[in-house]
Amino acid sequence: MKGSAARMAARRPALMGHEHMLRSRLAGTGSYLPEKVLTNHDLERMVDTSDAWIFARTGIRERRVSVDETSSEMGAKAAKNALKAAGLHPRDIDLVVVGTVTPDMAFPSTACFIQSRLGIRPGAAAFDVSAACSGFLYALDAADKYIRSGSAHNALVIGVDRFSKIIDWKDRSTCVLFGDGAGAVVLKAEKGRHGILSTRIHSDGRRWEMLYAPNTCQPSPFEASEPVLPYLRMQGNETFKIAVRTMGGAIAEVMEENGLKPEDITCLVPHQANLRIIEAIRERLKLSPDKVVTNLEKYGNTSAASIPIALDEAVREGRIKANDIILFVAFGGGLTWASSVVRW
Ligand code: ACO
Repeated sequence: MKGSAARMAARRPALMGHEHMLRSRLAGTGSYLPEKVLTNHDLERMVDTSDAWIFARTGIRERRVSVDETSSEMGAKAAKNALKAAGLHPRDIDLVVVGTVTPDMAFPSTACFIQSRLGIRPGAAAFDVSAACSGFLYALDAADKYIRSGSAHNALVIGVDRFSKIIDWKDRSTCVLFGDGAGAVVLKAEKGRHGILSTRIHSDGRRWEMLYAPNTCQPSPFEASEPVLPYLRMQGNETFKIAVRTMGGAIAEVMEENGLKPEDITCLVPHQANLRIIEAIRERLKLSPDKVVTNLEKYGNTSAASIPIALDEAVREGRIKANDIILFVAFGGGLTWASSVVRW
């Protein structure tokens, strides 16, 4: 085969079968949200804002905040639910990958804490991935590659963030946007047509100042520069425009790679940052609203947790069935962005 024919064949694994290929099947999903609900009306009493402004600009009505649960506690609870759904025991897991930018500690990794909390076999591999709101898809991509190469057989992929710890609760332009939570999937190595068809991850470190949170380490006595406040900062308006453009491109990339047309997509599970961003993406793809999973009205932007929480809700509501083609897309600090296609 030459030229475009060869390129098309390479790009069409989804439609071409590949029954004997080793893939990562999504064997179970789980999520966990802390109990405390913080409504827009609660925020009206904390900063100069209104329920009407927040809902109209973002689609958010309320979010959950952790009172005393760390990221590893929330992540372990989500993972437990995913293991139950997959019918697996923690001893079956040989790899834990966690997407988070709010780890319990600088080290050990949140993944190591979750390994210990769940009683996963000592000797299994566990590590964190830092890609802000794209963290879950970055973690999914890493775990998928271990599975496809035969290095892992059953992997836990977790997205968890506790942004209530890094938000400036006096800054109305950011504190209304985020919430805490965790979501997880179990990946199982299986030959066949089902599972992750492809994932693409990207970053552009030149634009880090669009969205960042300085670390919370103590200043060293040798440091020349003034200590900076550890709070999240975001150039919201500019980030909004880049997010719409970049997520549109990321979707096109994995769709083309798999030879998919918009009508092949059963369900889009996008990162839940802003309903207006999700609507813009939906309109570009000409998808009907019932094909797009949104839950940011209840949880706000839970960063790395948003996609696996939304996926878990969709699965439990019976919205996803065998052979459905599911599309994931995320965008976040870094800048980072990622997309993935799964055959359920
Ligand atoms: N309540 C009331 N007014 C507010 C609030 C608030 N909470 N926040 C800002 N305003 C005001 C501003 O001061 C401004 O007033 P002005 O016109 O008098 O100056 C006005 O509202 C408009 O502000 P904008 O920032 O232009 O509002 P915008 O429509 O862009 O909405 C938002 C802001 C919701 C943050 C939006 O820009 C957004 O969603 N951005 C993208 C977020 C995103 O995708 N982030 C990436 C993922 S997150 C991650 O990776 C961690």
